[in-house]
Amino acid sequence: MKTMVVGGAGFIGTHLCEALLNNGYDVICVDNFSLGDSDHVNHLIKNAGFTLIEADASDKTELDKVFADYTPEYVFHLAANSDIQASAGNPEVEYKNTYSTTFQILDCMRRYGVKKLFFSSTSAVYGDKRDEVLDENTSNLSPISYYGAAKLGSEALISAFTYMNDLSSLVFRFPNVIGPGLTHGVVFDFMNRLAIEPGKLRILGDGRQTKPYIYVTDLVEAIIQFMDADKGVTLYNIGVDGATSVTSIADIVAEEMGLKDVKYEYTGGEGGWKGDVPRFKYCIDKVHKAGWSAKYTSDEAVRMTVRANLGGSVRE
Ligand SMILES: NC(=O)c1ccc[n+]([C@@H]2O[C@H](COP(=O)([O-])OP(=O)(O)OC[C@H]3O[C@@H](n4cnc5c(N)ncnc54)[C@H](O)[C@@H]3O)[C@@H](O)[C@H]2O)c1
Repeated sequence: MKTMVVGGAGFIGTHLCEALLNNGYDVICVDNFSLGDSDHVNHLIKNAGFTLIEADASDKTELDKVFADYTPEYVFHLAANSDIQASAGNPEVEYKNTYSTTFQILDCMRRYGVKKLFFSSTSAVYGDKRDEVLDENTSNLSPISYYGAAKLGSEALISAFTYMNDLSSLVFRFPNVIGPGLTHGVVFDFMNRLAIEPGKLRILGDGRQTKPYIYVTDLVEAIIQFMDADKGVTLYNIGVDGATSVTSIADIVAEEMGLKDVKYEYTGGEGGWKGDVPRFKYCIDKVHKAGWSAKYTSDEAVRMTVRANLGGSVRE
C-alpha cells in the first residue's frame, strides 16, 4: 500500500516512515523542512519504497501537485508547528502549519478520493485541567495555547470531512513523545544546555510540572496496530504508566551524563511558559481495552531517551 507521511522528516515522522517501510508499505515523505530536516531521513533514501518530497502542506497548489503525482491510499498527518513556546509570540505559525495543513490535506484527500487518515493530536486540546483524569469521551475541551486550539480545530475539520466523504480517520491524542533523534522539548533542551554548561541548569517554572512521557517506538507501534480503523473517527488518548516531573528529568539527564552537583536555577511559577499545562493525567482505559499498552513507563522513557541521544542527536 502506498502511504504518505506529511511531516515525515520530523522526529516522530522519521520513526513512523521507518516502521512503515519495515512493515512493507511504500512511503512518500512530505515535509517543508521548517522544523524537520532531510538529514533525518537520509538513511531511508536508499530504500526503493521511499520517496522524499519537499512541499509546504499548507499551500494548496504545492500539495495538490504532490497528490496528483503520488496519490496515496493512506495519509499520516504529522505536520505541525511543534515549537509551542515560539508560537506563543506568533500565533500565525499555528494557523499556517498546524491548522491550514490539516485543511489542505483533507481537501486533497476529498478531491483525490483518499479514504484513510491518521492524525497526530495532543493532550493540549484539553487545556489546563490539573488533577482531572482526562477522558476522550467526557472531558471538556478548552485549549489554553494557540497550538492546542489549532489541533482542536483540526480535529473538528477531520470530523466534518470524515462524515462528508466516508473516511476512516484515526486520531491519537499524544502525551509528550521522546526517544532517539529527539529535536525539541525538555529532555532535548536539558541535554543541550548541560553539554554546554555542565555546572548549572536553568529550569523553566518551579520544576514540579509533571507529565507522562511516551517512548516513540511505543507510540509508532500503536499507530501501526490501529491504522486499519473503521469508517468514521476513532479517537484514543495514548498514554503510559506514570508521569515524570521536570526536576526528575533534570536529575536523570545529569545522572546519565555523569554530572554531579549541578545547580538548578528555577525561573519560578507553575508553568514553564504562558500556555504550558503544568500537569495532566490521562485516562487510557479505552486504548488498553482495544489491546495496546506501552512497554515503557514514563521514567523509563526519559532515561532511555537520554541514553539514546548521548553523544549528539544519534538514532538508536
Ligand atoms: N513530540 C511530542 O511530544 C508531540 C506531542 C503531541 C503531539 N505531537 C504532534 O506530533 C506531530 C509530530 O511531532 P514531532 O515531535 O515529530 O515534531 P517535529 O517538529 O519534529 O515534526 C513536525 C514536522 O512537520 C513539518 N512541517 C511543519 N509545517 C509543515 C508544512 N506547512 N508543510 C510540510 N511540513 C511541515 C516540520 O518540518 C517537521 O518535520 C506534530 O503534529 C505534533 O504536533 C507531538
